[in-house]
Amino acid sequence: MNKPGAAPRHVAVIMDGNGRWAEARGRPRVEGHRAGLDSLQDILQAFGERGVEYVTLYAFSTENWARPLDEVEGLMDLLADAIERQTGTLHARGVRILHLGRMDRLDEKLARSIERTVALTKENTGLTLSVAFDYGGRDELLEAIKEIVRQGHKPEDIDEHLISRYLYTAQVPDPDFLIRTGGEMRLSNFLLWQAAYTEFYSTKVLWPDFGPADVHSALDAYTARERRFGTVASEA
Ligand code: FPP
Repeated sequence: MNKPGAAPRHVAVIMDGNGRWAEARGRPRVEGHRAGLDSLQDILQAFGERGVEYVTLYAFSTENWARPLDEVEGLMDLLADAIERQTGTLHARGVRILHLGRMDRLDEKLARSIERTVALTKENTGLTLSVAFDYGGRDELLEAIKEIVRQGHKPEDIDEHLISRYLYTAQVPDPDFLIRTGGEMRLSNFLLWQAAYTEFYSTKVLWPDFGPADVHSALDAYTARERRFGTVASEA
């Protein structure tokens, strides 16, 4: 049971609205994604200052492959660019970086560079930043089920803990809070298993406009809530 006032330990973010932000300026959609990447360091800092220990970003979904080729390639280049330009600063700040999602469909060079970043920051003890890239909640569950069968687990041994251990998020607690920018009210195949009791927050602010002040507003809204996890409100 969570009493109002406590900061969320893990915040997940659906960074939506980049396309609309760019289109409103008559610019290609990928420029919206680039603008969305620029504010990341400040946003992570704001989460850290409020005591958040885990931040998970939905950067590319299993469905995003169906976008126009130039946008898909633009997003791949942005991730490569982000790794190259931002890993140093994040590592210096003690951030541990994890990747959630499939590796087998990514370009070999990009996959190796993700692996190097994860390995480099493995022992860091500050904020854990998970980047969901080629991630889908249903795909994650399918892969977990296949692996559980391959490993020969008996039906009676399969419980919630065992399933959680086979998900990409095995090293990460379930999210307490999920922020979606851009005004939509959907989960969009993000953390389907893990978000069972996550508090949901949607803001109309488009992701490239979302800054530290918006982080504080969102966290203030979270701390005013009382989480009951399906039980009734506690007394006193
Ligand atoms: C959704 O906006 C956003 C994405 C599909 C990509 C988000 C990616 C980034 C911010 C850059 C990469 C980030 C990292 C951490 C490498 P949308 O295009 O659906 O916007 P719209 O709803 O306005 O069309």
